[in-house]
Amino acid sequence: MCGIVGYVGYQPVVDILIDGLEQLEYRGYDSSGIAVKTSDKIEVFKAEGKLCNLREVLKPNVDLFKDSTMGIGHIRWATHGAPTVLNAHPHTCNCGNIAIVHNGIIENYKELREQLEAKGCVFKSQTDTETIAHLIGQKYAEVKDLTKAVELATKELEGAYALCVMHNDHKNKIVITKRNAPLVVGIGEGEFFIASDVPAIIKHTKKAVYLGDNQVATLTPDSFELLSADGDIIQPKVEILPWEPVALSKMGYKHFMLKEIHEQPDVVRNILFGKLHTPDEPIILDEVKLTKDKLKELNRIQIVACGTSLHAAMVGKYLIEQLCEIPVDVEPSSEYIYRKTVTDSHTLVVGVSQSGETADTITAIKQSKARGSHILIITNRPDSAMARLADSLIPVNAGIEVSVAATKSYTAQLMAFYLLALYMAEIKNSVEQSLLINLKSEMMILPQKIEQILSSTENIQKCARAYANTRDFIYIARGINFPTALEGALKLKEISYINATGYCAGELKHGPIAMLDETMPVLSILMKGCVYEKLLTNSEEAKARNARMIALTNSRDEKLESLFDYILRVPDVQEIFSPVISMVPLQLLAYYISEFLGKDVDQPRNLAKSVTVE
Ligand code: G6P
Repeated sequence: MCGIVGYVGYQPVVDILIDGLEQLEYRGYDSSGIAVKTSDKIEVFKAEGKLCNLREVLKPNVDLFKDSTMGIGHIRWATHGAPTVLNAHPHTCNCGNIAIVHNGIIENYKELREQLEAKGCVFKSQTDTETIAHLIGQKYAEVKDLTKAVELATKELEGAYALCVMHNDHKNKIVITKRNAPLVVGIGEGEFFIASDVPAIIKHTKKAVYLGDNQVATLTPDSFELLSADGDIIQPKVEILPWEPVALSKMGYKHFMLKEIHEQPDVVRNILFGKLHTPDEPIILDEVKLTKDKLKELNRIQIVACGTSLHAAMVGKYLIEQLCEIPVDVEPSSEYIYRKTVTDSHTLVVGVSQSGETADTITAIKQSKARGSHILIITNRPDSAMARLADSLIPVNAGIEVSVAATKSYTAQLMAFYLLALYMAEIKNSVEQSLLINLKSEMMILPQKIEQILSSTENIQKCARAYANTRDFIYIARGINFPTALEGALKLKEISYINATGYCAGELKHGPIAMLDETMPVLSILMKGCVYEKLLTNSEEAKARNARMIALTNSRDEKLESLFDYILRVPDVQEIFSPVISMVPLQLLAYYISEFLGKDVDQPRNLAKSVTVE
């Protein structure tokens, strides 16, 4: 993970770097640092923890860097070495002449470190990154050319990296390169903005170049020299970013997470816009580039994703199998990439990712693409690396999600799967027309149902207060809401650090039931449908072991009053759409518990929103 920024131009550099890092905080917030070129040397400033700590470190040093117009910066999600000041980037070589920031992981750093130590390099940190600083330092001593030194050093690196490098001898030059990690250069007039991601540059320029793997660029205020992987000079391909600068604001909400939860009705409306006009008309999904004949010939779908996106994918499996009768496998990308998978030209591979940058999912997609599968990407970032690998691309248009815990992007991903499943069902003729019309009508009123939940949250807040001080939490569900149980538990874990687990309720009796006693809350996602009665029985079994019972339900069944200590009610909805409706109160429950406990809701410890390392 981590985010890197750089600037070379004519403006005071420090504010630009800090502002850029602030936009990249979603990539990590364990530590931060910058290196700037002053009139006599490179000055490095670092701080542990959030960016506000670095701002404090910088305050007394303003005079040192007020005339600096070149620098690099970093925000860290720790991989190698604890999140201390020593391990914070930028890292320097022995003489302090070279400073670098790095996003990625260098897999052969131990061997390289041994070799460099044998040559006299003294390491100050435990990071893999410091190896690169020393290595470039050594190469520079040989060739006296920064670009060449970076080129030579990176040839010895195994793993992933995006790098910004500066040298004391060069007042106005930054060298950058990347392999399997994102890096974008914003083009200004007499200035360049470098960043891991667009939000850090968009307020300065809409013209940008996405660096390709193994390319090396040398930037000065008035030149951009780009070398291909083979070392040939090539023309940078300038793209116009389809972004508007947005001031990220909480719009009066206490946290971004709460704001994003409340945006969900509009998120659903947005994704349906232009794709679902009336229940009688077919779904329009021009984003799917497979011909109708190819779609009919599909014999298998594989979906790869991580985290919350994986849970959306699991709901997708239910939908596609139920409506389209095509077998679907869902697998965490990190598992998929390390085994032999069987695909052929009749297999569709779907990658789901909010960020479009998750390293494991990118690798999984690259592998399937190499095997000739059609790649369909569902993402919130149509400008991402994953989107660029897509044969078909469904952007979910949820808008920027700032809170590390994903909420609105999950709902948007679910909606993408409803659209995809219904679209394929219409083409395959696998579902009665009357049922299709009925489903499409219900889908159109989902935003109002979510609004209903959001308009009265007192009961959820009360429940949060009642259960906030528990150590563990169990979520149970069956069928299409099993992924809801997993996602509900994940939300709680992520932002409250309570040990929450989701189970398919039928499995409770095969082990987990041993944990139940009068201290254990069990939240049953009891939505009306084919598994309702079965789940009621499982809830009875938990109650019989004295668990503290909570129901999340759309049922008016009177039996529930005596069985559950707490009942969270949601509007009535057909079972197939219940994952959309049932998730909203679970997001809110996690939010209010975290807020009640005084945790950092938007930036929980140890997490990052975009995980660009495997
Ligand atoms: C990180 C985030 C999660 C997210 C997961 C997958 O772990 O903290 O919220 O679900 O990555 O990210 P993606 O961008 O691929 O959906």
